[in-house]
Amino acid sequence: MRENRLQANAGIGIRMKQTSKSDQNETYLTCQSQDTADQNPPKRAAAALALSDAAATRAAWVEIDLLAAQQNLRLVRRQVGAERKIIAVVKADAYGHGAPAISRALLAAGADMLAVATVGELAALRAAGIDAPVLILGFVPTQGYGAALRYGAILTIYSLAQAMALDAVAEQLGLQAAVQIKVDTGMHRLGFPPSAEAVRDVVKIAALPHLRLAGAFSHFAVSDILDKRYSVMQLGLFQRFIDRCAEKGIDFPLRHIANSAAICSFPDSWCNAVRPGIILYGCDPSPEVRCLPGMQAVMTVHAQVVRLHTIPAGAYVSYGCTWQAGQPSRIATLPLGYADGLPRLLSNNGCAVFAGGRAPLVGRICMDQCMADVSALPEIREGDIATLLGDGIRADDIADQAQTVNYEITCRFGARLPKLYHDDATIMMAKPTENAT
Ligand SMILES: Cc1ncc(COP(=O)(O)O)c(C=O)c1O
Repeated sequence: MRENRLQANAGIGIRMKQTSKSDQNETYLTCQSQDTADQNPPKRAAAALALSDAAATRAAWVEIDLLAAQQNLRLVRRQVGAERKIIAVVKADAYGHGAPAISRALLAAGADMLAVATVGELAALRAAGIDAPVLILGFVPTQGYGAALRYGAILTIYSLAQAMALDAVAEQLGLQAAVQIKVDTGMHRLGFPPSAEAVRDVVKIAALPHLRLAGAFSHFAVSDILDKRYSVMQLGLFQRFIDRCAEKGIDFPLRHIANSAAICSFPDSWCNAVRPGIILYGCDPSPEVRCLPGMQAVMTVHAQVVRLHTIPAGAYVSYGCTWQAGQPSRIATLPLGYADGLPRLLSNNGCAVFAGGRAPLVGRICMDQCMADVSALPEIREGDIATLLGDGIRADDIADQAQTVNYEITCRFGARLPKLYHDDATIMMAKPTENAT
């Protein structure tokens, strides 16, 4: 029944041709739409799933709209101008969206550099054949310096001891290590304090023979609120630090502090490079600071109804029996749960969108499954597709219900579900090996 419905969905208004594409260590199943009149993403997703071996393992998936990501990047470019470098932040597997595919798309759309958090994230990009400059924003243990340098990392440095250790490893490997100096201007997380002593340390770092100073950066703590006083203070400390280094003859080719919120709302902070993250994925930095006009969400999440049945009035749904049917109710089981990123706090709180409308999620969300009360949607059948993110449900809506931020929502949805990438004419399903990263 489910297969039939799925095949039927795949057949409506769209003809698909399956090919396979190998790109370095990645393999995609590629479905090319031969009917451009019908570009309905869920329908195309069903078509791709029907054709995909990988889909045999799950009836729930994430869709990634690479064109939306590229459009978002171009809007950042229009905002900050051609002369500034754009360092696209693709850490945490591109906020759950899949770093290799997103990075390729963003670089093709004009990103100058990428930024990740760890050496492992850089390794994944290199394994995918991406050779763009990559800044590692986070701490790298000394034991990781060798690997980082072999991958051509630009490392973040915030102490003289780190710089000396890195210089020694670079010497052993016969390499020149590119580094950026992190300045702590008020986040109090990583960075040199903006002190005279730190300036002296930077002068010593600049003299190390196997290191090259590629830039200096800092990070805003509250650029996502309209009151910019704290951000102005941070920017002032950053600029003074750079000026004091300049007085000592130190020039940083790249200087950057602006994250997404600052790109949207604080032009004075753009320096000569910016580091957008969340807006590239079409999510608002905060309720106070929104995306740039025209930006679109990149991720949607879908699942098929894998069981549909009617329970009598008085029957309960899911663990803990927290939801009781007040009347005979049609319950649709969807095969994704909190281990797939659907927060358990949405139990008896969230909703799923079907072709005919919204249905509430009832009972506790399980690790791998959840249930929707589709009594008000009599046309629903097994195999139909529900949307858990998208179609009017924003990552912010889920974040509000789950008492977190949209960043965490997309990261979590991206962790286990298969990913289906599409642009205007192509749907690509990454093999499970890539999804497992
Ligand atoms: C150092 C650094 N720069 C830039 C970003 C991007 O921030 P956003 O996603 O808010 O643009 C982050 C994200 O956490 C970060 O840690």
